[in-house]
Amino acid sequence: MASLQEQIQQYEQEIIAFQSANAAELEDFRIRFLGAKGIVKQIFGEMKNVPADQRKEAGQMLNAFKILAEEKYDSFKAQQVDTKASGPLVDHTLPGTPLPLGTRHPLRVVENKIVSIFERIGFSVATGPEIEDDWHNFTSLNMPEHHPARDMQDTFYVSTNPDWVLRTHTSSTQARILETESLPIRVICPGRVYRNETISARAHCFFHQCEGLYVDKNVSFADLKQTLYYFVTEMFGENTKVRFRPSYFPFTEPSAEMDISCTVCGGSGCNLCKHTGWVEILGCGMVHPNMLRNFGIDPEVYTGFAFGMGVERITQVKYQVNDLRMYSQNDVRFLRQFQAIQ
Ligand code: PHE
Repeated sequence: MASLQEQIQQYEQEIIAFQSANAAELEDFRIRFLGAKGIVKQIFGEMKNVPADQRKEAGQMLNAFKILAEEKYDSFKAQQVDTKASGPLVDHTLPGTPLPLGTRHPLRVVENKIVSIFERIGFSVATGPEIEDDWHNFTSLNMPEHHPARDMQDTFYVSTNPDWVLRTHTSSTQARILETESLPIRVICPGRVYRNETISARAHCFFHQCEGLYVDKNVSFADLKQTLYYFVTEMFGENTKVRFRPSYFPFTEPSAEMDISCTVCGGSGCNLCKHTGWVEILGCGMVHPNMLRNFGIDPEVYTGFAFGMGVERITQVKYQVNDLRMYSQNDVRFLRQFQAIQ
């Protein structure tokens, strides 16, 4: 009995001193003390050798020893479960790290606005390829080879194929629609276009357009004016005035450029309108009979109007962006300013 007691005391020292750094060490501890062939089992087996009158006392001692081993094991096990579940201690109730929200690009915001204004009066959206063939970008639009109007737009040609250009305007999409869709046609064509210009505050080698086309019986210049007037009041507000100046485009006749009363000074004169009170925002006109004929449409039966605007220009006038380059510099200080108007 005395030796059993000594033995137990020795083991108790070992248990008290035990520190577990990892699951493997803890498992070794469990097997050594609490396993099927472990020390606790073994010592309980010795009970049969204890004289009957000392059994009660020995039983209590053994029970206390067993509990000590179990508690030691349980306390480390609890810690182990914790670390296993979460790695370094993490408080899942803390607020998360915020992910900053991006913003839509101002050009996309304005393009969406333009498109939705025209969608409300029955225009549908059409898009086309940015690498375009000569027919859709020029020839079908009443600009045959050597037509001087081709020089109005400095063109990027694709070196491997002389018939291909980077489209200089989205009128090429209108040509594709006239080719494939049946009449009447009412489309708005947004997209990126390219011109061989030196990059500066006022010019860029690529920009964005939204061009519209309406072809039906009895479409008149009055319809064109009214449609564009509706667009201007929706985009710039009810009190905005419009005026049309005669102009020239090969694919429209008559052609016009449309100005609106200056959105900054209201007409009294400022830098945006160069002290004229007016800012030019788009080109337009009645679709040229030659262009209709190019697509097998009889100009005696059908007429149409077309218009084209630069999305950068509309954005500049609406939000006073005074340098075209800002649109493609990806400066978040610029882009974030448009967060409120998404
Ligand atoms: N395509 C012309 C341009 O890019 C704009 C335009 C479109 C003018 C339709 C008249 C009619 O400048």
